[in-house]
Amino acid sequence: MKVPFVNLGLQYQAIRNQIIDKFDELSKKGEYILGEELENFEKDFSKYCGTKFAIGVGNGSDALTLSLRAIELEKQNEVIMPGNSFIATAWTVANLGAKPVFIDVLEDFNIDPSLIEQAVTKNTKAIIPVHWTGRMANMLQINDIAKKHNLHVVEDAAQSVGASIGLQKSGSFGITGCFSLHPLKNLHVHGDGGVITTNDDKIYNIVKKLRNHGLKNRDTSELWGYNSRLDNIQAAIARIKLPYLDGWNKKFIEIANIYSNELKNIVEVPKEEKNKISIYHRYMIQHPNRDKLKKFLQENGIETKINYPIPLHLQQAASSLGYKIGDLPNVEKQSKLILSLPIYAELEYNQIHYIIEKIKKFNQVF
Ligand SMILES: Cc1ncc(COP(=O)(O)O)c(C=O)c1O
Repeated sequence: MKVPFVNLGLQYQAIRNQIIDKFDELSKKGEYILGEELENFEKDFSKYCGTKFAIGVGNGSDALTLSLRAIELEKQNEVIMPGNSFIATAWTVANLGAKPVFIDVLEDFNIDPSLIEQAVTKNTKAIIPVHWTGRMANMLQINDIAKKHNLHVVEDAAQSVGASIGLQKSGSFGITGCFSLHPLKNLHVHGDGGVITTNDDKIYNIVKKLRNHGLKNRDTSELWGYNSRLDNIQAAIARIKLPYLDGWNKKFIEIANIYSNELKNIVEVPKEEKNKISIYHRYMIQHPNRDKLKKFLQENGIETKINYPIPLHLQQAASSLGYKIGDLPNVEKQSKLILSLPIYAELEYNQIHYIIEKIKKFNQVF
């Protein structure tokens, strides 16, 4: 049996007619950029997240960059973040001339709030919690710390669309929520895409200008901006998919529960937390023989990934920041043990059980 890590074509098949009809309609009208489709998606997405506004942008990295510009991040500033994110969480800060400050994570892979205060300096401007793998960071504690030190919280919600703490959704806790609509995300478009959510009128107005060359109107640019708009066709695709998202996420959760129940006695599995809904953008196990297990699964037709083998603070790009091996023990330990198993709404039960069977077999043999 072959089990690919993702299979995007299957989701497309199920909604192909809706997407083709919409593509045809927009193409006939010639409405490609900053039109009604984008506005409609933004309305639907803000409603879904429970925020006042949503602004479609070019990708998740731009969602972070534009948020950081909107909070007026300056060159001498520092931004606290976990050491285990995707590189974009860090480079968006570094490319604005500011300094990413990496701290360690908890067992759930999310930033450890108890380490934040000791990393705060007079230059700290913001915290970027990342809801890693689709599980919410401890936003209530993080927001309390931010309030105490007068810091902004920019949520990196790239992996967590639809996740929540109680009834409050990802992207509605910080000054902004930054989403990616990249093809590997639970809600994705046919290319790159991103969204910023916010409840703040001032941030909303700045970000809307920033994404469109800093323009206030056709001819007047008020600030140095970017060309970072979510195309109408991509917005329309995201809008078609949004009503399906909760159903897809439910399937992710169901698959995660099957994996966890079957594997919890032989490998380290993600633990469910009371009051948090994780949408399992990634399902990561931890195994002391990770590389051998990955190879064994590959030989049996099962594709897995390591997200990610090199932590942020040990990336070559970050070398000038002066971190060394041993600085973030949990991040470093997890990076050697983690393995992401296939998880997507279209994964079949026989495939799920085949993966489980092969992991059990590996544990008997090795
Ligand atoms: C945690 C995290 N932050 C930021 C990004 C960047 O998003 P994008 O690839 O849409 O720029 C991603 C996705 O790749 C991500 O997983």
